[in-house]
Amino acid sequence: MSERPFGVRLPMAVLCLLLLTGCGGPQSTFGAAGREASAIEGLLVVTVIGATLIWMVVVSFLVYAGDTRRRLRFSEERAQQLITWGGVVTPTAVLFVLLSYAVWSMPATRPWFDQQPPDLEIEVTGEQFWWRIRYLDKSGHVAFETANEMKLPVDRRIRVSLKAHDVIHSFWIPALAGKMDTIPGRTNSLWLEPTRVGTYRGPCAEFCGTSHAFMNLTAIVLSEDDFQTWHQNRVKRGSAGNDATRAFLLHGCAACHAIDGTNAKGLLGPNLTGFADRGRIGAGALTNTPENLARFIRDPAAAKPGVQMPAFPMIPTVEMDEIVEYLAGET
Ligand code: CUA
Repeated sequence: MSERPFGVRLPMAVLCLLLLTGCGGPQSTFGAAGREASAIEGLLVVTVIGATLIWMVVVSFLVYAGDTRRRLRFSEERAQQLITWGGVVTPTAVLFVLLSYAVWSMPATRPWFDQQPPDLEIEVTGEQFWWRIRYLDKSGHVAFETANEMKLPVDRRIRVSLKAHDVIHSFWIPALAGKMDTIPGRTNSLWLEPTRVGTYRGPCAEFCGTSHAFMNLTAIVLSEDDFQTWHQNRVKRGSAGNDATRAFLLHGCAACHAIDGTNAKGLLGPNLTGFADRGRIGAGALTNTPENLARFIRDPAAAKPGVQMPAFPMIPTVEMDEIVEYLAGET
């Protein structure tokens, strides 16, 4: 052991603590904005503090025992006692306390124990590599569809039914709730109960192919009034009966993409209604600007490897401008 055992380690420990200050932002379990996430955060904090205390006690014993100047001597009986108490009784007691705490917090971390009906039902389907989001009406039918960005009312209980179209994905918005896989051929469910207005981010949390890293979801939690205004507008949009712009139809965009209230009714790709409000293109691949949109349409795979959308390098500039301008006005 060196002369000054903490000479290098102390600055390292301070550096690690400084790195922990990065544990925040829209995609963090710390700073929970949902009921389930708060319970998980509590469990995490208790576990980390407990583990740190235990670690400090064990390391203190180690340093004490390793001090050669002390020449410790234990009788065999003392050594047996140490093993019994330190190696059997204490870990069992600690695990029992942790388990009791986890079980106690279960009604909050697993809210399906709570049998009340939801205030809102949303169906989320994992696709390669984006999220199909369907808002259901009271009778369980699809009211409207959107993609990659979900708007939620604050202080309401929302049941999310999780499905998958192709491979296994995983739905996870750390600031709102825990993680749940979406599995082809089965429906899982998760409850969201946002407690704070704001924008939160969720990555797909199960490796699902080439563009797994570009499969992000944004949850925008709105006040009840703002949510109702948005929701009612979206429901009304369905019956508007407009034409999508000519270039959008001419180049086949409408074969895969729908824009509610127009004759663009494709179901294969993301629904583009309200596209201008979305922060990102391609579920996170690019920032939503007109230049990036044109770039994405010309060669989607350059920004998002493995994407199912074909490249459209042949669209003349004038018509590309028309499509981009049309989508930039799609609110
Ligand atoms: Cu979808 Cu990873």
